[in-house]
Amino acid sequence: MNLVVIGAQWGDEGKGKVIDILSGKFHLVVRYQGGENAGHTVISSGRKVVLHTIPSGILKGIPSLIGNGVVIHPPTLIDEIASLESIGINVKDNLKISRSAHLVLPIHREAERISEEMRGGKKIGTTRKGIGPAYEDKYGRRGIRVGDLEREDVLKEKIEVLLEEKYRGFPVRKEELFEWLLKYREPVLSLVVDSVSYINSMVKEGKNILFEGAQGTLLDIDFGTYPYVTSSNSSAAGVSNGAGISPRFIDGILGIAKLYSTRVGAGPFPTELKGNVGKFIREKGGEFGATTGRPRRCGWLDLFALKYSVTLNGFTGVALMKLDVLDNLDEIKVAVAYRYRGKNMGSFIPDPYILEEVEPVYRTFKGWQTNTRGTRSFDELPQRAKDYIKFIKDYLETEIWLVSTGPSSEETIILKDI
Ligand code: GDP
Ligand code: IMO
Ligand code: MG
Repeated sequence: MNLVVIGAQWGDEGKGKVIDILSGKFHLVVRYQGGENAGHTVISSGRKVVLHTIPSGILKGIPSLIGNGVVIHPPTLIDEIASLESIGINVKDNLKISRSAHLVLPIHREAERISEEMRGGKKIGTTRKGIGPAYEDKYGRRGIRVGDLEREDVLKEKIEVLLEEKYRGFPVRKEELFEWLLKYREPVLSLVVDSVSYINSMVKEGKNILFEGAQGTLLDIDFGTYPYVTSSNSSAAGVSNGAGISPRFIDGILGIAKLYSTRVGAGPFPTELKGNVGKFIREKGGEFGATTGRPRRCGWLDLFALKYSVTLNGFTGVALMKLDVLDNLDEIKVAVAYRYRGKNMGSFIPDPYILEEVEPVYRTFKGWQTNTRGTRSFDELPQRAKDYIKFIKDYLETEIWLVSTGPSSEETIILKDI
């Protein structure tokens, strides 16, 4: 079975945890978009690891591929490899990198810093990792790819085109960029594969492949709350072009959704809670960025937006995360519709100018006020928590594959044997 795991909201839904639970059943784990803007936390057997560019399957010793759709900042990747190796994880034998993946360069971070500063009050609130400018150069057909490191003459030529075309005003010399890239050449090239034949030979052999999404659907460049989005297709749409696999071979798509909402960075957030409840959720849920440490904005679960995500991605199943964070609340709200200019909206439209004006219509549930942390069986949940989950399932008209009741992989109610 080839399964895709997608963030269903604005990222940080708990994709890392779910990948860790599932990866043992797969022969290959693939990251296919984004870069080190991602921060995927895995807590297993008391050990906490945060992954940025490397697929989370690496922790279980599963072959892991960084696909062509990912953008790689070489020094960060090398540091991530070293830090995983230092805790006894065998990265070098299991990690592969597509030769078509693009590189994030120091000028990309600089370009992003300048563009964010120029936006004044309209900042995107990016992670400042240079992700957007790296994709701009990719689509501008002047990017530098992993495979270019193989040949010094090609690399020199590409650097020249890139700097001439786009970065004339920048204080960067081509010799300097060339030397910088050469430093990472050996370690990166030692992991390179032709990813299309690598993945597809596994497909042919009937091996199971797990695709690890980064960010979330509402941050998708096409389907998210543009321009407050990331620069890749973080919905299911990104898998084929970011990994080099035909859609024909994708067997299932699992959406990961938190039972409340969070967002890091700027952009519309209709169910945001700016007062004490939001603060409570942030503290109890540990909602601080795994990549930047920024406090995450918190709010009620937005089923109206989540239904859009279910529709767009065609989820085969959904994982509901962080139930335990809601344990102590007297009441729990979920948005079931939006009012816009006096009328109920027919469906979620991810446009900031509309979302800034909408008023969520809430359904209120009484809190269960019982500790659910670590519960592993649905039957053991308090009745009110069961009713709450049942309501969500019916609203979304989808299967619920698991409910997560704590940060560690063991703290999970598995409802579907995948
Ligand atoms: P990702 O980017 O989607 O992989 O998610 P992050 O790792 O950025 O953020 C999810 C955070 O929630 C991490 O700190 C996880 O350890 C934590 N987490 C995941 N599932 C649960 C859960 O069910 N309960 C609690 N309390 N924490 C969880
Ligand atoms: P994971 O994979 C949450 C957000 C940034 C910003 C916007 C654009 O851990 O869920 P970028 O640096 O990508 O150009 O920033 O996207 N963002 C994320 N938010 N989780 C992530 O990744 C994110 N990656 C980017 O905060 O709003
Ligand atoms: Mg994250």
